[in-house]
Amino acid sequence: MKRPVATVRLRVNAFIGAGMVLACTTAWAASADWPLLGRNADMQHNSPLAQINDGTVGRLGLEWMADMPTPDGLVGNPLVVDGVVYQGGPMARVYANDLKTGKLLWSFDPKIKTTTLLVYWAQRVNRGLAVSGDKVFIGAADCRLYALDRKTGKKIWDAVACDATGKSGLFAITGAPRVGGGMVFIGNACGDSGFGRGHVDAFDQRTGQRKWRFYTVPANPALGRQKTPELQRAEKTWGTGWYAKSNGCGSVWEAITYDEKLQQVYIGVDGPSPWNPKTRAADAGDELFTNSIVALDARTGKYRWHYKVTPNDGWNYTPTGHIMIAELPIGGSPRRVVMSAPKNGFFYVLDAKSGGFVSANNFTPVNWASHIDPKTGRPVVLPDARYWEKADGKAVVLPSVAGGHTWQPMSFNEQTGLVYFPVSVMPTLMESDPNAIVGGVVTHDYYGFGGDPKWKAYGELVAWDPVKQEARWRAPRTLPFNGGTLTTAGNLVFEGTADGKFEAFAADSGKLLWSFDAGGAVQSAPATVEVDGRQFVLVAVGNAGAMNLGTTMARASSTLATRTPSRLLAFALDSKLAYQKPVGKPIPQPPRPRPQDAPLVAKGAAAYEAVGCAYCHGHDVETANGSIKDLRFANAETHDRFAGIVIGGLRAKNGMPAHPQVSMEEANALQAYILDQAWRGYDAANKKP
Ligand code: HEC
Repeated sequence: MKRPVATVRLRVNAFIGAGMVLACTTAWAASADWPLLGRNADMQHNSPLAQINDGTVGRLGLEWMADMPTPDGLVGNPLVVDGVVYQGGPMARVYANDLKTGKLLWSFDPKIKTTTLLVYWAQRVNRGLAVSGDKVFIGAADCRLYALDRKTGKKIWDAVACDATGKSGLFAITGAPRVGGGMVFIGNACGDSGFGRGHVDAFDQRTGQRKWRFYTVPANPALGRQKTPELQRAEKTWGTGWYAKSNGCGSVWEAITYDEKLQQVYIGVDGPSPWNPKTRAADAGDELFTNSIVALDARTGKYRWHYKVTPNDGWNYTPTGHIMIAELPIGGSPRRVVMSAPKNGFFYVLDAKSGGFVSANNFTPVNWASHIDPKTGRPVVLPDARYWEKADGKAVVLPSVAGGHTWQPMSFNEQTGLVYFPVSVMPTLMESDPNAIVGGVVTHDYYGFGGDPKWKAYGELVAWDPVKQEARWRAPRTLPFNGGTLTTAGNLVFEGTADGKFEAFAADSGKLLWSFDAGGAVQSAPATVEVDGRQFVLVAVGNAGAMNLGTTMARASSTLATRTPSRLLAFALDSKLAYQKPVGKPIPQPPRPRPQDAPLVAKGAAAYEAVGCAYCHGHDVETANGSIKDLRFANAETHDRFAGIVIGGLRAKNGMPAHPQVSMEEANALQAYILDQAWRGYDAANKKP
């Protein structure tokens, strides 16, 4: 696949967090099972089980562990039905294990093939499954949706849910399907490419036949009148000559929530591309339905309402993370609401029926808006983060383009009335760059790791009161990107962390009650179920890198020591299985001396980003994904053949593309930079305490 160099560079930044999930419906979960992603259709990630509680959690121990044969991370919730644990993984593999013993019952591998660069990335990311009746559903990076026999893992049907060929845009599925009303709902990721139109599809669970498709952005105006009234209205919001500059995308890569009561589906739509508003139409309005929460009729896919979250978005501030439904006391009476904590740093409560604005407040420092005007439901914008309006084209933005909160699931506890979610503070420098064709901006993700205390990167577990719109408590986290949450009637909140811990807090007070050293970074949300009178807590561990955040967020979502293989852990009271921590590989001493030519190293660093090496090998040569080689581990033989591998494609059959556009001189600079980073990593790991 040949693309302009600048396009590739943009995409290195742009892939962060692109993906998606589908909503499930089926019968309400018995407390013994965890059949849907959020356990119940409302996506609350809570459980009425209380055998493990704030008094007993100290006795929690390991019951079993099951290694999953994948070098990449497991980030989807384990689902449990009838004593079987179903776990989806990278490359759309599915594993079924016995709940009591952890024994593998069956596995499924669709053996997907790389077609485009997007598929290449997306096949390492999968946010899980849906289970309904006798079937298990999973979406794959090659846009196929699979229905498997729940007992055997054999394929029953598959359907093409988007176009992964690159002909009509760039698409791949990374999110979990959701089920409801006899249908499977699935969206897709466009990797912020701005090629093609985002859409959500519904398929018949039984037959795999498509029931409807909803497009999130208007079609090419040259093709005539838009097909639906809402798209006719939406087209007017894109400004003059918009299609020549952007054709939207607006992918729904994660949030799809099925509302059993109102028979509607809520989708969270990604932002417009390119990111830099200056490169889109100057008179653009809301660019609908990008950056919006949209409600659709579940049976027909017809538009019901939308709420625009981030107008004039220049920062990838999408509401494509988790959308949760709850009944909250608003103004003294119970109200059915949808809740979202999108990337832009504000927590929103909307009326589920009308989409009307109820309230919003920021849950983390933000510098793009001061507040949301309660009269209009619109943000009051600040100049600070608007890099495209600055003389030097630069701004440090909060939250980061990866979000104050993104796809990691939130949980809602009925007893405390609080919503628990991981918050990421990661100041990011954004810089207008007219040569970055797709995005018009270059993003420095690791700015907040640079040592300036004013712009320090860190994470938090936040307990948020959605009625008062304020934090009840916050627990600090060392790294910005941590796992999704689970809350239970035992007054507990469980969360795994990027630095390899799995912990339980008192849901009401935020007191840390239990901590387990899992050894591998955790991004998935835990689940809890009961079998034969015993409550189990399950969590998928080990990201082998940056999991799901794309390949470029290694430092924010794991440490070198926690880049370990994937495994599923099951905990119960008084269980005492000895735990062998998985071990991350230490960086070996580089096979050549440290380069002394600083300008050459700097040149290599720039080329590494510009050519797109970072896209696969990670920013700062910190590989994010286990199945892609970490270049800091390259041996003498690799360094001897460096130019042959990089320019000539000596390893092309293993997935390392030839780069004929790279000159010999550039290859030397790249090699110097990679060696320098290897020495940096080696020295840091071996420095005396
Ligand atoms: C599309 C993804 C992709 C891109 C882009 C990419 N690589 Fe790779 N690279 C890989 C994969 C996958 C491997 C592992 C191949 C193997 O297993 O032999 C690899 C291997 C390598 C190796 C051999 C490492 C070893 O220890 O054997 C080097 C060196 C390398 N890449 C350098 C680069 C440089 C420099 C760039 C940018 C010019 C780059 N790569 C861009 C995917 C990529």
